[in-house]
Amino acid sequence: TRRITVRDITAAKERGEKWPMLTAYDAMTASVFDEAGIPVMLVGDSAGNCHLGYETTVPVTLDEMTMLSAAVVRGTSRALIVGDLPFGSYQEGPVQALRSATRLVKEAGVGAVKLEGGERSLAQTELLVQSGIPVMSHLGLTPQSVNTMGYRVQGRGEEAAHRLLHDAKAAQDAGAFAVVLELVPAELAAEVTRSLHIPTVGIGAGAECDAQVLVWTDMLGLTGGKMPRFVKQYADLRGVMTDAAKAFADDVVGGAFPAAEHAVH
Ligand code: KIV
Ligand code: NA
Repeated sequence: TRRITVRDITAAKERGEKWPMLTAYDAMTASVFDEAGIPVMLVGDSAGNCHLGYETTVPVTLDEMTMLSAAVVRGTSRALIVGDLPFGSYQEGPVQALRSATRLVKEAGVGAVKLEGGERSLAQTELLVQSGIPVMSHLGLTPQSVNTMGYRVQGRGEEAAHRLLHDAKAAQDAGAFAVVLELVPAELAAEVTRSLHIPTVGIGAGAECDAQVLVWTDMLGLTGGKMPRFVKQYADLRGVMTDAAKAFADDVVGGAFPAAEHAVH
């Protein structure tokens, strides 16, 4: 079986098919999602908070993204792997963006990269696409701008909505193959989805997007703490793992593990 490509993603929109995307940060988790048939995986810089223990995505480095992306590529054989360009690895301009994206493509083997911003990342998107690197754009709440934007719903009000639509079209015109819409009013996300010929990937952006993405540790209940309302939890991995760790500890302290069948003689 060959890997899914950005051309398959384009064809899905033409056929009106919805598709799921999950984040992944390591080979083993990625292999589970690959076997489950998840067609697109994002090695998100959400790895900063969800995998590496940082407060935000801002400190994540290109070295870290390259290492995590390589692991996800190694753990999968079917999914299209999209690597996030971390904060500071593309804002200087198109040449820096190309240098950074080239590392993710050559060293990690990703099939596409993602960067935040429409208009403001136009030149970067154009050069990457011209150079043969598919680009996924990310609009709405863009966590790398937390220090200026905070974590708030984006695109509320006529002017903000107009700007988001403009950014989405700018990304499309620059050659992006898909656009993530994060924490955007559902009506606006629906309008963007209708206005573009490339797919929208929603997270907290309503049901009308062409695709949906969730952070895997949120979706499986591993993250812990209060979840944003757009997250649907499909399992309680944190509970499962906590119970298992406690049971193991109790068995060791109480002498129930190892039992006779676990010993070699
Ligand atoms: O880093 C990430 O996980 C993301 C998704 C939420 C789109 O950018
Ligand atoms: Na991200």
